[in-house]
Amino acid sequence: MTTPDLYAQHVLPTYGRFPLVPVRGAGARLWDDTGKSYLDFCMGIAVCSLGHCHPLLVEAIRHQAGELMHVSNLYQNPLQAELAEEINTRHVKLAGKVFFSNSGAEANDGLIKSARRFGLKRPQADGSQRYEVVTFLQSFHGRTLGAMSATGQAKIQEGFDPLLPGFRYLPFNDIAALENAVRPETAAILLEPIQGEGGVNMATPEFFRAVAALCKKHDILLLIDEVQTGFGRLGDAMGWRMIAPEVQPDGISWAKGLGGGVPIGAFWLSDRAVSEDGTALSSLMGPGSHGSTYGGNPLVCAASLAVLKEIREKELAVNAILQEVRIRETVKSWNLPVVTAVRGQGLLLGIALDPALIPTPEGKTPALVVVNKLMEHGLLVPPAGPNAFRLLPPLNVTDAEVDEALSIIHSVLSEL
Ligand SMILES: Cc1ncc(COP(=O)(O)O)c(C=O)c1O
Repeated sequence: MTTPDLYAQHVLPTYGRFPLVPVRGAGARLWDDTGKSYLDFCMGIAVCSLGHCHPLLVEAIRHQAGELMHVSNLYQNPLQAELAEEINTRHVKLAGKVFFSNSGAEANDGLIKSARRFGLKRPQADGSQRYEVVTFLQSFHGRTLGAMSATGQAKIQEGFDPLLPGFRYLPFNDIAALENAVRPETAAILLEPIQGEGGVNMATPEFFRAVAALCKKHDILLLIDEVQTGFGRLGDAMGWRMIAPEVQPDGISWAKGLGGGVPIGAFWLSDRAVSEDGTALSSLMGPGSHGSTYGGNPLVCAASLAVLKEIREKELAVNAILQEVRIRETVKSWNLPVVTAVRGQGLLLGIALDPALIPTPEGKTPALVVVNKLMEHGLLVPPAGPNAFRLLPPLNVTDAEVDEALSIIHSVLSEL
């Protein structure tokens, strides 16, 4: 039986998978089961920040697998403590504490729970708990019941009523709409610096600052979903710093690039005092409040430490900025009418397409037509909504690899 046949018979059909069967990867390259090679600018959807099978990551996993893989969170785990220190002191650079999960959705669930704990500590005027988390239309926060309920996209939520109560969605980048954002029950605002899954929509600095100011004014938490943007992808360890560096979040979620390919997520809470008695926000998630059997086990923490150290020591965030400039300049020089915009920042870029110029068969979006054509020509990229595709190369991508990808994109888009 072929792999697609086995899937059809044994795996829930939740994904519309491409027929491609990758079997090996090295750096920015991937090979399928027929031996065809691809330049991979999808990277497991912004996960493999060092590329495929980076020797340092492979060695860290090999070594740790032979020492100790898993102990649960009943015991002390030196690698988890070291990773939290690395994240706090070298990447977030703000006083706070980390909880390790296994995915981005779980990390966001942790932030949502934290917002409710905060709303208990800082209740409404009548003493009742604040619980509401305001998010934005076109956001994506994950697929668990909590993260899905936080996600401002009807298509993600369809058929799963009743959703978790306590969420409200506002238009993104609409400062005027923030006027009515806060109600007595509101405990937090959660946003992505760039809405990745929602089509690569970047928060404007003015909007980001307005959200932060509103949070301060109404004593509500500013929560940033850095699952896709964190750890160098936008050109700084923390994505929001590329947009509004002076903003200080109360909570952050990560996953994807944090592990470079191993399943790890995390959320962070600030140590700032949230009440007159000096109680720290991070202390509101005390013993028994949250947990995960696997979360931050020695194997994934060893891998993540190798990834974060390499990103930091080789200044890969700087490469993300340099490559963004090269990509933008080249795409602009093509002057192709089918490209309506290049959106995003660093190496989370969206090439927006004019749907009127792309012949689209029934049931396919313009983005899918282009993504399939690029794949035929040896370049893997993920779509971003119906009319854009994303470029998510590894953070250590070379000039030559970027040039090769751009040349494939140019020839495919010129044909259209
Ligand atoms: C911004 C954002 N948040 C959360 C998630 C969910 O992460 P995961 O798929 O690891 O649960 C994603 C995944 O694409 C994401 O882009």
